[in-house]
Amino acid sequence: MEDQFKRTTVTAALPYANGPVHIGHLAGCYLPADIYVRYLRSKGKDVKFICGSDEHGAAISIRAKKEGITSQQVIDKYHKMMGDAFKDFGISFDIYARTSSPTHHATASEFFTNLYQKNIFTEEVTEQYFDEQANQFLADRYIVGTCPNCNNENAYGDQCENCGSTLNATDLINPHSTLSGAVPILKTTKNWFLPLDKMQGDIDNYINSHKDWKANVFGQCKSWLNQGLQPRAMTRDLDWGVKVPLKEAEGKVLYVWFDAPIGYISATKELTPDWEKYWISKDTKLVHFIGKDNIVFHCIIFPAILMAHGDYILPENVPANEFLNLEGDKISTSRNWAVWLHEYLQDFAGKQDILRYVLCANAPETKDNDFTWKDFQARNNNELVAIFGNFINRVMVLSHKYFDGKAGEIKDCTPYDLAVLAEMQAYPEKIAKSIEQYRFREALVELMNLARLGNKYLADTEPWKISKEEPQRVETILAISLQIAANLAILSEPFLPFTSKSLFEQLNLASSNWNTAGASNLIPAGHQLGAATLLFAKIEDEKMDAQLEKLKASKKENEQANHQMEAQKPLITFDDFSKNDMRVGTIIAAERVPKTKNLLKMTIDTGIDQRTVVSGIAAYYEPENIIGQQVTILVNLAPRDIKGITSEGMILMAENADGSLAFIAPTKAISNGGNVK
Ligand code: MF3
Ligand code: ZN
Repeated sequence: MEDQFKRTTVTAALPYANGPVHIGHLAGCYLPADIYVRYLRSKGKDVKFICGSDEHGAAISIRAKKEGITSQQVIDKYHKMMGDAFKDFGISFDIYARTSSPTHHATASEFFTNLYQKNIFTEEVTEQYFDEQANQFLADRYIVGTCPNCNNENAYGDQCENCGSTLNATDLINPHSTLSGAVPILKTTKNWFLPLDKMQGDIDNYINSHKDWKANVFGQCKSWLNQGLQPRAMTRDLDWGVKVPLKEAEGKVLYVWFDAPIGYISATKELTPDWEKYWISKDTKLVHFIGKDNIVFHCIIFPAILMAHGDYILPENVPANEFLNLEGDKISTSRNWAVWLHEYLQDFAGKQDILRYVLCANAPETKDNDFTWKDFQARNNNELVAIFGNFINRVMVLSHKYFDGKAGEIKDCTPYDLAVLAEMQAYPEKIAKSIEQYRFREALVELMNLARLGNKYLADTEPWKISKEEPQRVETILAISLQIAANLAILSEPFLPFTSKSLFEQLNLASSNWNTAGASNLIPAGHQLGAATLLFAKIEDEKMDAQLEKLKASKKENEQANHQMEAQKPLITFDDFSKNDMRVGTIIAAERVPKTKNLLKMTIDTGIDQRTVVSGIAAYYEPENIIGQQVTILVNLAPRDIKGITSEGMILMAENADGSLAFIAPTKAISNGGNVK
């Protein structure tokens, strides 16, 4: 990269250790960060890739309460689970640390002390919301209410995820506690504030010097600056977190968004004794990969903290992505609407690269995007299999068929051969340029274009037709194709590391770096190739149906869990109740009412008589299956006309949470006409 920097520190947002990793996390920041870092490594650059679990904040305590375990148990469980899943997926962090580590606690508290001693903070006694039932102050995710900016009813105490504005809990309209549901009272407490208002000028300058940032990121920053920055409390009255290192702050912890970004620094300390090079030296480029909900914290608040400290470099770029939806609906951990990485890795063992490919091809780089299993299947079958895999397979198979797997020499090139070689040579630069500008989708398209070039070259030259007459020519065609294959092995590594490895193995080459790419002598004449294996396989419909079923089941489960219990109706007297004449009856005939979906016409033996009743239960019972079924029937309901049929009475049904219906029948046979009372 031809800029003034000697090395790069790349961070990916520290995910809360409060649930497993899903595809939204991957598409939002971990995958683009990994592609970027793998590319830099391949260029031989000095780069450190930093991540870890964010183990403080209300997100953790709330999860603990939900699962009925301690906060410590929550972070231990999910830290391991997330770390393992990232690793299996090929996210190549240099370290995956955690903010509960002693190094982090020490680093974060030193940081606070440093700012405190410089008199940066303002101490303020303010009224904050307090939950009397839970006996604790409410901030951040402990409190929800209506956003004053966009009217979203589920805005958190520090942020509205709908419009992206940062809030203070006291800004919320109709606030209530997420712990108890109670309406909170106001209670005074002392906290330490970062006076962002006084720092506005410096932050303005900083943001304005980065007009090169992605439009969505720069635009959001400008809009906050235009609203005017407000002081923000950096401490909280909670017990889970990094203790505030002040005597007078007993029982208080650092705000999670104060300590978590410092986690990048403490993780680097754990990684290398040379950590200062990656955080202090001006010739280090600091890049934060995040999702859009984290923009304000990385572009304004963390830089303000770093500026106040004074020793550190500031983020050079913050290429935040928008959100990925799933099958048209917002991904949600609490609603279990997600494709979980650990489950994918089980269901699609050894197929990490398909998901890497699809998430990159569909990355929400400039706008929200949708993941669907149909698209996943199509991209695998029509792109990975039909373009990339097909090209490699043809070159390998033909080389084995005609030359016993030995690479030939490029000789007597036609103008077309030379044009293809020249085009091939341009790809490393093209792809690099897109990656350096954080345009990973575009970079991936170019990678596939190189495979397309290979396919087109083979289709145009048709070596299989001239193998007898022109063996020399075939040798050249396959030799050129093999150079394209070797280039694909190098250039695909950041995106599809597992495929790249397997391709190098097939070519029987040691993996080589980006700087050698473009060349047409990557595979020397006479080189013995490895065995041909398929890089990708077609995915059948059944496999996709199983995934869709899984999602459907989770939606159903969720609907049931969210089914609102109807409030009890107003009281009635015993006399009111005894007006209902309810009897046991037996269905003696049943048929569908023509031209209706739900209605059954039944004849019921009520003991008093045999009568017709029409009922909307056809979705739950087949007429032929219910003859002889005992039911409860309200016999003194005034007759009603339903679709031209007079219905004399009503069959009582019990309704399930999902809306399905079941008969109310006696648990042993009762003679028809028996009272229900
Ligand atoms: N845990 C936060 C989230 O999941 C991200 C923290 S990023 C860091 O939204 F900078 F604070 F580390
Ligand atoms: Zn809002």
